[in-house]
Amino acid sequence: MGDQLKISGYWLASGILGVTASTMIRATKSGADAVVTKSIGLVSRKGHPGPVLTSSHGGLLNAVGLTNPGIDEFANEMHLLKEAKIPVILSIFGDTPEEIAIIAEKGEKMKPSAIELNLSCPHATISQISHSTKLTSNFVQAAKEAVHLPVFAKITPNASDYVAIGKAAEEAGADAIVAINTVRGMKIDIHQMRPVLGNRVGGLSGPPIFPIAVRCVYDLSQTLSIPIIGVGGVSSWQDAIEMHLAGASAIQIGTAVMDDLTIFSKIKSGVSSYLGEKGYRDTSEIIGLAGGR
Ligand SMILES: Cc1cc2nc3c(=O)[nH]c(=O)nc-3n(C[C@H](O)[C@H](O)[C@H](O)COP(=O)(O)O)c2cc1C
Repeated sequence: MGDQLKISGYWLASGILGVTASTMIRATKSGADAVVTKSIGLVSRKGHPGPVLTSSHGGLLNAVGLTNPGIDEFANEMHLLKEAKIPVILSIFGDTPEEIAIIAEKGEKMKPSAIELNLSCPHATISQISHSTKLTSNFVQAAKEAVHLPVFAKITPNASDYVAIGKAAEEAGADAIVAINTVRGMKIDIHQMRPVLGNRVGGLSGPPIFPIAVRCVYDLSQTLSIPIIGVGGVSSWQDAIEMHLAGASAIQIGTAVMDDLTIFSKIKSGVSSYLGEKGYRDTSEIIGLAGGR
């Protein structure tokens, strides 16, 4: 594996503080074991018109629209992260497998520890990829053929058969599945009588999606052999334990980091006390226990 990234521990999820190196470095100083960058495309992209963020029912709705500087421009931030010796997972997205191959090749030169394929942003056209086993397979295969790095496939709970999608990614050579991206959602302003987000539809994250993420991780771990990286609504050490028991080898944290950057160290100390009390030495001993993995 590039830089010997271990698929364990607690990582900063993609898109959260993830465009500038300085904020990602702050996350690791607060205990994150690795950081996933904002998803980067071939060329710069402005994203959706505002508002791009709103809150709803204890969660966050976003329709940022994959705002990013483009892969060539992002080299500067990657350089700073490498200098700070931080394990970085480069998240990328593309419209076609050919484009993904080009971005992945350019990205590999920046020496990330792994590449995460965003196949699943629910408020962009790429969201279709992880609704189709064929497209998922084509994109994963293109990335795997383009680079020697581990490739992770990030999938959506919005697909009706996300286990089949996960399986297609595994068969195409993915080294891990990242589940889940945000859940399609919407908020309507009752005074203006129209959707709040500029893009109308967005992706829900934070505590309300936690049970959905647990279910997805659990289902995937029943069928797949590759590691699963759990993400979605984790905001406490209890949530982290639940995710591990469902089958997650590593956990990414997004929305909860916005409220509390020290969440990583808090989760780690809670998990370690829990393991001690239960007589375990390491999280690897409890992964998938709830499903008999
Ligand atoms: C503001 C915002 C931006 C995001 N941008 C990305 C992105 O660029 N690429 C991606 O794969 N996921 C992106 N996500 C999804 C998160 O990485 C994560 O999968 C999701 O928020 C669920 O985790 P959480 O509930 O811990 O936030 C974004 C989420 C938020 C809230």
